[in-house]
Amino acid sequence: MKFLWGSATSAYQIEGNNTGADWWEWDGGRSGRASFFWEKWEEVIELLHELKHQAFRMSIEWSRVFPRPYEADREALEKYRRIIESLMDRGIEPVITLHHFTNPIWFSRMGGWERGENVSHFLRFIESVIPILEGVKFVITINEPNVYAFRSYVEGYWPPQEKSLWKALKVLSGLKEAHIRAYELLKSRTSASVSIAQNMMVFEPAWKWSPVHWIFTIMTDYMFNWYFPDRIKDHMDFLGINYYSRGFVLWPGSIRYRGNERNCMGWEVYPEGLYRVIKRAFRRYGKPIMITENGICTNNDFQRIKFLKEHVEQVMRARQEGIPVIGYLYWSLMDNYEWAEGFGPRFGLLEVDYERGKYRIRRSALFYSEIIETDGLAAL
Ligand code: BGC
Repeated sequence: MKFLWGSATSAYQIEGNNTGADWWEWDGGRSGRASFFWEKWEEVIELLHELKHQAFRMSIEWSRVFPRPYEADREALEKYRRIIESLMDRGIEPVITLHHFTNPIWFSRMGGWERGENVSHFLRFIESVIPILEGVKFVITINEPNVYAFRSYVEGYWPPQEKSLWKALKVLSGLKEAHIRAYELLKSRTSASVSIAQNMMVFEPAWKWSPVHWIFTIMTDYMFNWYFPDRIKDHMDFLGINYYSRGFVLWPGSIRYRGNERNCMGWEVYPEGLYRVIKRAFRRYGKPIMITENGICTNNDFQRIKFLKEHVEQVMRARQEGIPVIGYLYWSLMDNYEWAEGFGPRFGLLEVDYERGKYRIRRSALFYSEIIETDGLAAL
């Protein structure tokens, strides 16, 4: 299978005006027109083509397709189909995510993922999306169930701002059920390879001579990295990994970042960690691996070039060892709405001028095109 080089995005972060999403209600629509994708998707696809991307990860916004619980919006579905087709027409493989953090407002009001019986609503959404997935080879059911459960139900930083371990476990169990049933549905009706995108981190003890911190580290590593994929391992055709950083564990679930090189949000830049998570995940599951996200927010584009070079090197190292890594998607194609952090952090290969609704190609985007053209060799 040909290795796929490309980039990743999510609907809520780039489309704009997703007024039916719970996140929109929560922050009063602060994302506004976001990165203008819903208006300018044709231009974006031209840019992807120009930059030689072979794959593009995007999500379908559930709340756009189902602004109300039982009635799909045909127009929205048709537009998503046009986007998917025009990617395929240009030889760009769409990687389609079905849940990327946001839910329809009505779904959250009925208890969201805390209630097992609500899973049927997600399946109805998938039923209506299946016809527009024709020709799509990769589907991600759920993005980062671990991050979603942690941020929204343990830390209470994201909506619905709960701080309850018990609720977090219920949410994870709802998401597991949703994934397994979605997997079965998708496998019976499409020819796509199906998985999740799991955020994976490298964890190390904050004090390496302290046995208790080693125990905290093992617990954190298990809960964050493996708890969810272990439960769905018989229902994934490959594993999507989103990798960003390494954390030093102070307390179970509580980490600090260290190191001289950081991204704009303070996360350590630790390229070798990408190799380490690929290797561990392959040992554990024996499935092909796709890097469904890896990227940096920075105001210094040279730092992004260095980041790309050093992380692609680690991907090449894993490939050279014979680990079946099937793709690498840089996060993100364009600057976008970084959730609670808003528009500050810039992850894009394309710079977005939020005032004027314009895109500009960064130098890192051109460097990445060279990586793509040489199948990774330009990074070595
Ligand atoms: C998420 C993205 C987010 C990125 C950078 C990932 O956890 O899937 O939506 O923008 O990290 O924080």
